[in-house]
Amino acid sequence: MPLIQENISLKPFNTFAIAVNAKYFVEIFSEADLVEFLSSSLLKTEQLLILGGGSNVLFTKDFPGVVVKISIPGISKCREGSGVIVKAGAGVVWNYLVLYCVQHNLAGVENLSLIPGTVGASPIQNIGAYGVELKDVFYSCTAFEIASGQKKDFTYEECKFGYRDSVFKRELKGKYILTSVSFKLSEQAVLNTTYGAIQTELANRNISSPTIADVSKVVAEIRVSKLPDPSTIGNAGSFFKNPVIERSKLEEIQKSFPEVVNYPVGNECFKLAAGWLIESCGFKGIVAGETGTWKNQALVLVNHGHATGQEVYSFSERIINVVCQKFGIMLEREVNVL
Ligand code: EPU
Repeated sequence: MPLIQENISLKPFNTFAIAVNAKYFVEIFSEADLVEFLSSSLLKTEQLLILGGGSNVLFTKDFPGVVVKISIPGISKCREGSGVIVKAGAGVVWNYLVLYCVQHNLAGVENLSLIPGTVGASPIQNIGAYGVELKDVFYSCTAFEIASGQKKDFTYEECKFGYRDSVFKRELKGKYILTSVSFKLSEQAVLNTTYGAIQTELANRNISSPTIADVSKVVAEIRVSKLPDPSTIGNAGSFFKNPVIERSKLEEIQKSFPEVVNYPVGNECFKLAAGWLIESCGFKGIVAGETGTWKNQALVLVNHGHATGQEVYSFSERIINVVCQKFGIMLEREVNVL
């Protein structure tokens, strides 16, 4: 049975660096560990929280049950048809997987460079950046049902991916623990450099035929310039989702704010830049006690050192209210609040 510790600080295990404790804490290094743990009597009485890199969570209080940190390692690859399948353990740091693919000249995840978190969490919220989402390279994943301990492979269709969304956030929320994810990558680099900032950065460097490594490097540099590094300033990336609205609502907003930043999604819907909405309400770079918004990206809430989760949460409520009053749009949190 893996070691079950009591009263453990979760500060090192969440990128917001919120100082709360878990009643119990257990780290899982293999599928065999997990199967054993799932037979533990603790599960009958205690709440369960599965943690990967802790990069998408805001703790507002001590966790009164068992925190399970998934640290299953390993990356392997095999050929399949015209592509290559790379399989990674759920505990692999996402960016290690990206670097592995770049080093092996495999295209597909380079736009997702430097996203914090682990491989196991990546399909759950269908991570995305710079015009690419995890679903674009997803092949399958393996998970264990918590109630029965049964192993199951999930196909692309079964995952029901959406914008920062999947079946694991909906019907199957809290029911499965992912142990590995397989990705389908390409040896013929089909690069996606359509995102404005990537094009600009490549042009600045006079790179007209970028390699996989060029794109990965440029994306990493854009992220570093815009987003705070969680190892120095606690944060969980974008705190809110970009809202998707209908044409009529967009036109109504444009009457008062013709400059509203928006991107078409299909024919009749538009995604608004939540960062723009928040900045327009005067919140960019605001310091509010120990919390605030990041100076280069208003969508990111930060912990200046000693913020409590409650303080960050209240600040996010304030932002939601002000944005709603000004634009009539209710921002939805992307981060899981616990
Ligand atoms: N903008 C502002 N002010 C701000 C921030 C953004 O006006 O303070 C406007 C600008 O016009 C900018 C546009 O919003 O051009 C888009 O900003 P950005 O490129 O930074 O992307 P985003 O829509 O704010 C999304 C993802 C990020 C991802 C980037 C790049 C969501 C919720 N966020 O942010 O993902 O890195 O695109 O693709 O979809 C994350 O999920 O944690 C995350 C960081």
